[in-house]
Amino acid sequence: MESHNILNDLRATVKELGNVYEEISLLYKLSERFSTLNVKEICENLVDEAVATVGVKTASVLFFNEGLRTLYTRACKGDWEKDRVIDGEVEIISNALEYGKPVAFCNLGAVEHENCLSGLGSVLLCPLLGKGKTIGLMVLADKSSEEEFYSNDIKLLMVITRQAAMAIENAFLYEEIEDLLLGTIKSFVKALETTTQWTAGHTERVTMYTQHIAAEMGLDGKQTERLKICSLLHDIGKIAIPRDILNKKGKLEEDEWIEIRNHPLVGAKILSGLKAFDDILDGIRYHHEHWDGTRGLFGLKGDDIPLMSRILAVADAFDAMTSDRPYRPRKNRNETLKEILELSGKQFDPSVVEAFYRWFNRQHQAFLP
Ligand SMILES: [Fe+2]
Ligand SMILES: [Fe+2]
Repeated sequence: MESHNILNDLRATVKELGNVYEEISLLYKLSERFSTLNVKEICENLVDEAVATVGVKTASVLFFNEGLRTLYTRACKGDWEKDRVIDGEVEIISNALEYGKPVAFCNLGAVEHENCLSGLGSVLLCPLLGKGKTIGLMVLADKSSEEEFYSNDIKLLMVITRQAAMAIENAFLYEEIEDLLLGTIKSFVKALETTTQWTAGHTERVTMYTQHIAAEMGLDGKQTERLKICSLLHDIGKIAIPRDILNKKGKLEEDEWIEIRNHPLVGAKILSGLKAFDDILDGIRYHHEHWDGTRGLFGLKGDDIPLMSRILAVADAFDAMTSDRPYRPRKNRNETLKEILELSGKQFDPSVVEAFYRWFNRQHQAFLP
């Protein structure tokens, strides 16, 4: 009898250890993963993780709008509309937010009469608790196994949401600072562009093109963000070129060409003292290198040229060719695209040209090779 009890105790302890181990490994996995993502990606990951860990058919992440007292959907899966908004004053919702604790319902229809979560059966609500306040709410509904929610489901979901909420708060802070930085850079670049007759809007357009290429090539949020800053600053080296050279209508002298040609190097030098720009310096320095290693300022070739520079090269060339210059008129967009396709594998990275072509074609549908 005694040995039977010991065995039972041992089994219970092993089971409990298994649960704790599951929690700890989840914690490690998530804290590492979330730290590199932006808010949107964290929310999408949170939904995926909750669906996989707890095994539910429906999951959604809602953010709380304090002013309107409503919750709006940021990410979802299953039986949930992407633009669903929930009234934060409904009792079961306001309770979950106020007490900051998860709450489970076996059959929501029996307790919820205000239809804010209509269409769902068994439901688990878990607040997203930041450091000082509740950011929002996670809703899980209907386990694939058709079972009710157990205490272990609730525990695991708390681990996941706690990690996600902290990561979301950090990402918000990061995005706020980044917005401030981007705003400052944009006004700085605008001021620079107004001193020449023909660069107005060049930087903004190049940035727009690089962002589309990045999306087409599947770059992650962080890479895309760095590329955006790199694009906004790519011609910053032109600040050192005398205005009369930049605005010259006639043919440029050899030494004037050299001044212009050196702007990637000068740009990288200007920013090299600032730690925040460390990871975009190479992108700027090499943005006029040619894929086949010819004619670049440094003679870099192929993959030795940073991806940021290779993307910039295509975007930059497209905008330069489709804009008027003091010494030549602009070309039309289809003609320019054709020329860029011809230079694929020579001046430009073929995979970047391909991505740009895909995006361009979807936008314009006008040019077919
Ligand atoms: Fe440039
Ligand atoms: Fe440029």
